[in-house]
Amino acid sequence: MALLHILRYPDPGLRLISAPVATVDGEVRQLIDDMLETMYAAPGVGLAAPQVSVAQRIIVVDISPKGDAPLCLINPEITSLTGGVVMEEGCLSVPGLHENVERAEQIKVQALGCDGVPFELEAEGLLAVCIQHEVDHLEGKLFVDYLSELKRNRIQKKMEKQRRFSM
Ligand code: NI
Repeated sequence: MALLHILRYPDPGLRLISAPVATVDGEVRQLIDDMLETMYAAPGVGLAAPQVSVAQRIIVVDISPKGDAPLCLINPEITSLTGGVVMEEGCLSVPGLHENVERAEQIKVQALGCDGVPFELEAEGLLAVCIQHEVDHLEGKLFVDYLSELKRNRIQKKMEKQRRFSM
């Protein structure tokens, strides 16, 4: 296993549209293991492959308090969105920023598991929000896109400055 480098906003790699995974093979499973290790080390509750410079439709999530219930979704498709909930979100690619975002409260999602077998999941609350946030990453969308342009520009300037001084 290996820790992967997480791209930081406004890196253009975060804006790529990810491609579907054709075959769930050993390489994909290795990537998933590395993504999980990277997510736990960060620490975070979700990570999408484009955040680690792999533009493929793979996300990992674990909202359990102990971090012992990893969930991996390959080629996820959200098939149902209902209700609305506002939660404070953060993103490993936008460190230090937490802002309220409104999303659906309940979702249904279809995906392949890391064994390549299709499954459907019904999620609500934090898990539903987290999956929506990660699926957005596969479309090149970030949670800051839900904020006002003024706020987003301010964040972008701040992040660029941070990057200049990071070692
Ligand atoms: Ni994120």
